[in-house]
Amino acid sequence: MVQIKPLLLSLTLAQVASFVSAAASTTNGQDYWQSFKSNINPLNVTLPKITQTVSINPTQECTYYDPDTALFNIDPTEWPSIWEVATTNGMNTSAEFTALYNSIDWTKAPNIPVRTLTSSGSLDFTGYDANTDPDCWWSSSVCTVPKIADVNPDIYYCPEPETWGLTYDDGPNCSHNAFYDYLEEQKLTASMFYIGSNVVDWPYGAMRGVKDGHHIASHTWSHPMVTTLTNQEVLAEFYYTQKAIKLITGLTPRYWRPPYGDVDDRVRWIASQLGLTAIIWNLDTDDWAAGVTTTVAAVEESYTDFITMGKNGTFANSGNIVLTHEINNETMSLALQNLPAIRQNYQHVINVATCQNITYPYFENTVSFQSFSEYLGLNTTSSASSSASSSASSVASSIPISAASGSSPSSGVASKVSSLSSTSSSTSGAVKLSPAYIGLALVAVAGLLI
Ligand SMILES: *[C@@H]1O[C@H](CO)[C@@H](O)[C@H](O)[C@H]1NC(C)=O
Ligand SMILES: *[C@@H]1O[C@H](CO)[C@@H](O)[C@H](O)[C@H]1NC(C)=O
Ligand SMILES: *[C@@H]1O[C@H](CO)[C@@H](O)[C@H](O)[C@H]1NC(C)=O
Ligand SMILES: *[C@@H]1O[C@H](CO)[C@@H](O)[C@H](O)[C@H]1NC(C)=O
Ligand SMILES: *[C@@H]1O[C@H](CO)[C@@H](O)[C@H](O)[C@H]1NC(C)=O
Ligand SMILES: *[C@@H]1O[C@H](CO)[C@@H](O)[C@H](O)[C@H]1NC(C)=O
Ligand SMILES: *[C@@H]1O[C@H](CO)[C@@H](O)[C@H](O)[C@H]1NC(C)=O
Ligand SMILES: [Zn+2]
Repeated sequence: MVQIKPLLLSLTLAQVASFVSAAASTTNGQDYWQSFKSNINPLNVTLPKITQTVSINPTQECTYYDPDTALFNIDPTEWPSIWEVATTNGMNTSAEFTALYNSIDWTKAPNIPVRTLTSSGSLDFTGYDANTDPDCWWSSSVCTVPKIADVNPDIYYCPEPETWGLTYDDGPNCSHNAFYDYLEEQKLTASMFYIGSNVVDWPYGAMRGVKDGHHIASHTWSHPMVTTLTNQEVLAEFYYTQKAIKLITGLTPRYWRPPYGDVDDRVRWIASQLGLTAIIWNLDTDDWAAGVTTTVAAVEESYTDFITMGKNGTFANSGNIVLTHEINNETMSLALQNLPAIRQNYQHVINVATCQNITYPYFENTVSFQSFSEYLGLNTTSSASSSASSSASSVASSIPISAASGSSPSSGVASKVSSLSSTSSSTSGAVKLSPAYIGLALVAVAGLLI
């Protein structure tokens, strides 16, 4: 039996309440996106039929192409360097960026230090008190509820029972055609967290994401640990990714995911200036590490555990958001292998916009997403509607699992550390097992019992 500490419960309830306002409101003066240009109509995306868009041979798909200049013109001198911090190539001195930077009242920015990396490349937590966690630094504590006002709180789970929040990071990957074909055939839509550098490199891949009805969100320009960047660098990572996604898809996201989950209240505050809200996760497959820093079998085992949880009571009262990746053939193959069983064991396998009733996940209100009940209405299966009617009370009475671990495609360190175990724990539910970020493990309150 798990004893739930009152503070944890109240934080959880506060977060549930704040989801509603975060999804519904915009912060002041966020009209920067209106000056972005695009020729793409997101309601009528037509992909040029070239080998790269129709083949399912990874080598053919990943052959570079020059996009049709009638769709968009990507002049490298007008963008940050690919896979480098977005202030590169003079982008921190462009007129548009300078105007944006100066439009923000930085005197209101929280006075939180820029983090540093250790010599081994992991976050340096020296001197940071994970117990009091003054900056709501997820990497240290899995904190998702900001400690300061006027900042969008993170989303990290789907509230409906037996719901798998489907998310794929690090795309668009050039070799994703077989994977996207499968999702399309199965009528599955996911939240896709695109890296700005990949969007510019593989624009038709990003167009396909919108064409297929996926929920597109930002995953920064160059995939850094964002808390290690200066305010200017953080702003540039967000801004140029927004601009790239708009140019190529006609849409500007309202949601983003921090690489490695690395976010604190300084980064949240800057994101909030651009109207961006973070979406984290509460289950991590570590799929990026399969065959890289861990075995494929270990990742298969995580998938199997998470699939089991769909039916064994773990998600009887609320659902999950699962961290998985579009990053390469291995992770997409794992997705294809496991999706049939995921769908068997979970009532709902849906994108995060729909599971959170975020009907407008973009600044452009021309594209809307189904709310959860709209999604249920279209799905005439009878068992689905009964879970909807019970949902309101179940949200308030559940403690979402918050097991998490870092994922780092670029890190040499790895350990499969997501763990769910019954324990009474500290307020944050976190127990740090290793000083290294990648070794960070969180033992969560797994009881769904009050
Ligand atoms: C959709 O796009 C195609 C190709 O760009 C165009 O021929 C067609 O007229 C468009 N349809 C609508 C309804 O805008
Ligand atoms: C722009 O960024 C570069 C690093 O990429 C830095 O050296 C320079 O000082 C920055 N310029 C301004 C105006 O902030
Ligand atoms: C459900 O399955 C998971 C994964 O195998 C396991 O860790 C957890 O303890 C199970 N929960 C219950 C209530 O049986
Ligand atoms: C995309 O996937 C291919 C095939 O697995 C892989 O070789 C490539 O490195 C990936 N590209 C990126 C940018 O992650
Ligand atoms: C992975 O690559 C193989 C060939 O190298 C290909 O047949 C298969 O379709 C790819 N899987 C995915 C999910 O793209
Ligand atoms: C979504 O809407 C349904 C129906 O109004 C409601 O029961 C549920 O609590 C909402 N979920 C969220 C996350 O707001
Ligand atoms: C419709 O609901 C059933 C069970 O409630 C579920 O198995 C199925 O996957 C749902 N369909 C879609 C398209 O999500
Ligand atoms: Zn990532």
